Amino acid sequence: MKQAKPVFVCQECGTQQPKWQGKCHDCGAFNSFVEERAVEPGVGGPTAHRYSLTGVVPQGAIKYADIEASKADRISTGINEFDRVLGGGIVPGSLVLLGGEPGIGKSTLLLQAAANFAATVGPVLYASGEESEHQIKARGDRLGIGDAPLYLLAETCIERILEEVGRVKPALMIVDSVQTVFSLKFQSAPGSIGQVREAATQFLFTAKGHNIPTFLVGHVTKDGNIAGPKALEHVVDTVLYFEGERHHSHRVVRAVKNRFGAVSELGVFEMTGAGLRPVPNPSAMFLAERPAATPGSAVLCCLEGSRPLLVEVQALVSSSSYGTSRRMAVGIDQNRLSLLLAVLEKRAGLHLVSDDVFVNIAGGMSIDEPAVDLAIVASVASSMRNRPIMTGTAVFGEVGLGGEIRGVSQASLRIREAEQMGFNRIVLPLSNVDASEETGKAELVGVRTVGEALDMLLA
Ligand code: TYD
Ligand code: MG
Repeated sequence: MKQAKPVFVCQECGTQQPKWQGKCHDCGAFNSFVEERAVEPGVGGPTAHRYSLTGVVPQGAIKYADIEASKADRISTGINEFDRVLGGGIVPGSLVLLGGEPGIGKSTLLLQAAANFAATVGPVLYASGEESEHQIKARGDRLGIGDAPLYLLAETCIERILEEVGRVKPALMIVDSVQTVFSLKFQSAPGSIGQVREAATQFLFTAKGHNIPTFLVGHVTKDGNIAGPKALEHVVDTVLYFEGERHHSHRVVRAVKNRFGAVSELGVFEMTGAGLRPVPNPSAMFLAERPAATPGSAVLCCLEGSRPLLVEVQALVSSSSYGTSRRMAVGIDQNRLSLLLAVLEKRAGLHLVSDDVFVNIAGGMSIDEPAVDLAIVASVASSMRNRPIMTGTAVFGEVGLGGEIRGVSQASLRIREAEQMGFNRIVLPLSNVDASEETGKAELVGVRTVGEALDMLLA
């Protein structure tokens, strides 16, 4: 067989070059080129087999009106919080990528889902390139997995895994992880761009062609993205991220892309001695240890996807012992904090220049929606003036540079959640009060400026 020409592929961005280069001209990465040798076209390349995403022989374009809309029947994973992030359950033939840091619980969650699925729907193939069958079984024993048609396969070769798919004919497949599998078609090491892309494509065709929903586990890089080419996230139908603090027991699964459901949908779990347990009422969990009537603590109604959630925003303002004051933010954007402190300084007359300011979202959550602004401003002012925020009060709202309080989306959802958790006073943007109907359970206090908000909030 004639040797294929080598190509050098940048492992950061996927650029191909005929020669090795020290620096990638496209993305600027240094020493990122790796030689990859593809098999000659015509031998095993894409032209050799004609794939079809639906499993039937391709027949050309079809008129829009002639296509019957297939109602996607969702299959439950048996874990309601997981179904929620998937948009209501597993869509047949979908390819889902689950990313997360090592040890966060990806394998645990998928093994639990696999066991439920095997017990209620049909055989499941769990291919692992990271652990042996015995290790997986040991974990399964902890999780209390009973007798179900769950097949374990410790294998890293894609072609072998696909052979096993033909034999077992699973109703669900799990590949743990996409960075450990390799195809015989490439000579590069597992985890390199060519291999990861090949793996994703092969599993895509199996998922669509044989209607086998497939979960791929993905590793994340230092900066939190899924390792390998961005192309991976484009290929799959759904991208889920598993997040959580190592030192907290709760875990959050978040959808960042979903062709079959809403994005930024959230599932909350707690890691216990017997695996992951869904948390049906996360607000109660996040507020459980909140100190009562302590300065610097504000309760925020935030929204994650379609789910309202109450979390505690904590601030500590203390006089700085060195010449330069420190500003530290955990769980919110550092720049956002600087901006809000400047607004407080200029529009509400709080002098924070010589103070250290620390802001933290309790429970290890991270929030990136603007509705958090008012809670940050309130907690900082509360700590600074050493006056607690009135009891039973929750807040939300965006703060503009002029010190104005701007409306946020889905106010009624947030209000309802706060009421359910027993809050009887909600301080919110005035424009949101007009748009949401009063239920009478909580007093809605609309505010227009930061100054007004602080008057309404601090006891
Ligand atoms: P794991 O699913 O192996 O993580 P990942 O696949 O994302 O790397 O989970 C590993 C961690 O979870 C490990 O530190 C132990 C903990 N764990 C529990 O606390 N309880 C359990 O029942 C299980 C199975 C794991
Ligand atoms: Mg694992």
